Amino acid sequence: MDLHALDRYIKSLIKEAGHRIRSSFRMEIEIESKSHINDLVTNIDKEIENFFIERIRQDYPGHRIFGEEGFGDDIKDMEGVIWLLDPIDGTMNFVHQQRNFAISLGIYHDGVGQLGYIYDVVNDDLYHAVKDGGAYFNDEKMKPLEETSIADAIVAINAMWVTPNRYVRHEDTIRLIQDVRGTRSYGSAALELAFLASGRIDAYISMRLSPWDIAGGAVIVNEVGGITSNFKGEQPNLLGSDTFIAANPSIHGRILSDYIQIK
Ligand code: IPD
Ligand code: CA
Ligand code: CA
Ligand code: CA
Repeated sequence: MDLHALDRYIKSLIKEAGHRIRSSFRMEIEIESKSHINDLVTNIDKEIENFFIERIRQDYPGHRIFGEEGFGDDIKDMEGVIWLLDPIDGTMNFVHQQRNFAISLGIYHDGVGQLGYIYDVVNDDLYHAVKDGGAYFNDEKMKPLEETSIADAIVAINAMWVTPNRYVRHEDTIRLIQDVRGTRSYGSAALELAFLASGRIDAYISMRLSPWDIAGGAVIVNEVGGITSNFKGEQPNLLGSDTFIAANPSIHGRILSDYIQIK
């Protein structure tokens, strides 16, 4: 696989998709709910996924596509080249704020991340990484993550941590919030991974994410030395939903051992 040719191709595809999303701000969009009332999807999520799929099928017919909106292939294994695509990550933000959402894309070969992209559409900021070739913020090389500590860390979590859940004890969540410097909640897993890779936050923890939420970001985070895993410390699940943590290597293990005890 010629990663550099594929990288150039993907960048132009992503920029074109971003242009289409920005143009949609001037149109009326159709909003529906999926699994529950707050799980939103719009015609733009679907159109953008289909835009990628049409192009990929035409230009890379041997590749398979795993997309959130389900128009791609039925993926049950990681064999060959797979594009893991979230056409809009942060749909709630897209609908309510017209910002703080991203296109997220990871290219995997036999289960190993090769290329990762997170495109902050409104700010025209592209984060990307090539396996063993470094991570970039708008083509500027990103630095390896610097050592930090729990006390100095900014940790991204969401409101699920204070609602009844089967993963963490509330006393552990309270202790984590008290022990770290600050917490954040941006509402887009992809952007949170981009911020982690840039050193703007030090950990991002979620009780439930899907492969397309994390595929692109994991390649970028790993390329700057960040660690990605589920709550058991295993490799992130790329075939189904699972718990997920991405963190600076100096605090990843401690967050899991001291603050997250799966009930
Ligand atoms: C969601 C966002 C959100 C995360 C959810 C995801 P979507 O993706 O990444 O931040 O908390 O778990 O499902 O549905 O907007 O693509
Ligand atoms: Ca969604
Ligand atoms: Ca998503
Ligand atoms: Ca989505």
